[in-house]
Amino acid sequence: MAEPTIAQKAPYAVDLEPGTYWWCACGKSASQPFCDGSHKGSGFTPVKFEISAATKVWLCGCKHSGDQPFCDGSHKGTDFRPQLVEIEVAKQVALCQCKRTRGQPFCDGTHKDL
Ligand code: FES
Ligand code: FES
Repeated sequence: MAEPTIAQKAPYAVDLEPGTYWWCACGKSASQPFCDGSHKGSGFTPVKFEISAATKVWLCGCKHSGDQPFCDGSHKGTDFRPQLVEIEVAKQVALCQCKRTRGQPFCDGTHKDL
């Protein structure tokens, strides 16, 4: 099966009343996080779920949750960014040994004329 479209890389926090809902699994719905029929022909089908009491839920927006329709944190793996680290650059320098350089403490090649 094809990969679902990532609707967003974070869950949808929604307040739901008791009832039956259809979560969009394909990621193509214009009514996220709910199915609007856009999945037709994609091989995906919406996930039906029941809410028995008014509550807030976090519905998966990345469409990669292992606990559909709810977010299980898998969206964190869909948001790869480079990790910035600070490093000291190892650098080789030539320190003057003849003591005639005009660029102390570094060699400027003056020793070649001695
Ligand atoms: S939004 Fe998909 S796992 Fe969190
Ligand atoms: S529109 Fe995505 S599953 Fe129906």
